[in-house]
Amino acid sequence: MAVTQGARILVASNRGPVSYARTETGALMARRGGGGLVSGLSAIGPDADAVWVCSALGDGDREAVRRTGGALDPSETGGQRVRMLGIDPGVHADAYNGIANSVLWFVHHMLYQTPLEPVFDKEFRRQWASYEAYNRAFAEALAQEAAEGAAVLVQDYHLALTPRMLRGLRPDLRIGHFSHTPWAPPEYFRLLPDDIAAQVLGGILGADRAAFLTRRWADAFTDCCHAVLGPGIPSGTRVGVHGLGADADFLRERAHRPDVDERMAVLRKQIGSAPDGTPRRTIVRVDRTELSKNIVRGLLAYEELLQSRPEWRERVVHVAFAYPSRQDLAVYRAYTAEVRRIAEEINSRYGTPDWTPVELHVKDDFARSLAAYRLADVALVNPIRDGMNLVAKEVPVVSDEGCALVLSREAGAHEELGDDAVTVNPYDIGGTAAALHEALSMPAKERAERTKALAARATALPPGRWFLDQLAALEV
Ligand code: G6P
Repeated sequence: MAVTQGARILVASNRGPVSYARTETGALMARRGGGGLVSGLSAIGPDADAVWVCSALGDGDREAVRRTGGALDPSETGGQRVRMLGIDPGVHADAYNGIANSVLWFVHHMLYQTPLEPVFDKEFRRQWASYEAYNRAFAEALAQEAAEGAAVLVQDYHLALTPRMLRGLRPDLRIGHFSHTPWAPPEYFRLLPDDIAAQVLGGILGADRAAFLTRRWADAFTDCCHAVLGPGIPSGTRVGVHGLGADADFLRERAHRPDVDERMAVLRKQIGSAPDGTPRRTIVRVDRTELSKNIVRGLLAYEELLQSRPEWRERVVHVAFAYPSRQDLAVYRAYTAEVRRIAEEINSRYGTPDWTPVELHVKDDFARSLAAYRLADVALVNPIRDGMNLVAKEVPVVSDEGCALVLSREAGAHEELGDDAVTVNPYDIGGTAAALHEALSMPAKERAERTKALAARATALPPGRWFLDQLAALEV
């Protein structure tokens, strides 16, 4: 069922701006999400004619789709017109868990770790058929919702095939595809079976524009097109770059609300003071428990710091927030367990009655994340690969007294922030330990100056600009 006739602007993504869950009393509760797309889209203003097409992700969402036919109640979406697709749960699981998160995410983040991975067998082909069906459901919904000549912004690796399918249904539309992930270099991308690699690229090339967070990922995409499809980007698709920055106004206001102050007080108490009475130093990380975030090597680097630089023992605490993610996948569950195990091991090896070396928290709490950002002396952002990494951009914006940033050279954010960060090779545990030492030892004045420079660069492209620039680039 169409939300409305003929929207001028459409956004398509797997996860929408709202999700539904049952409360204990059995009522269906809408919960609005955050992120770059939500605040980016708000920049077009409430009167703009826009529809967001997304998928139902859980039972609560499916119930909401049953009740509304898919056109969600705008009072529950912050006024945003949303069409939520009630895709068959089995098809969604194959497309999202099977292909998007276990294959395409792994390829772009170069995560396969054993000689036995990946496996492209019959089961993969079955899941791929679901991925095609899932992409087609989006293409059909977008084709129904879009006005003549409308602009459609298709998001991410979940929807790599949708632009080509939509082009076939509605040649009049202006279509953009945006990748929020890194893009793999051809030698890794070509792990995919040749026909699948060609479909992924060809799907995105159905758009007028294929856009990426950094030049590096855009170039890798172009290289893959040359390697898989032959020289030249066929079909006249333009390749663009739109960096996404932190939302300074929102963050600064949100980070100074009373709930954040309360959590700072709790954290300060947990962190405590060194034997000489001075407050302990704090190394903070905030991530989803995501394989690409490299949390385990971060903990091992911290352990190496305590081992090789005993002067830091009892004088520093590693506050690690590792929020559960994609727990339907066994490999994510195992990784979460490994993060917990190593944190406990460090605590039992080095901890004292007055000092817990690692404060690991796994319950998602945005206010507490902001509290940690404000009081951190050092932020550890060491992903194996990352499209951008907004934590690296958010910390300097809200830091109270300056925070040294230890940043992986493989994060997209490094292109903009590298000059004022302490750069690490994410695989090098010894190098990361040395970087933590350097960051902890940075004089306060230098730390404050660098934080200022980082914040200026981190906020240069706020989500509203990022979104409007993409729309403007489709006008041609
Ligand atoms: C991160 C990535 C996005 C991706 C999203 C999916 O935010 O940067 O590229 O779309 O994760 O996460 P989900 O929890 O929906 O699987």
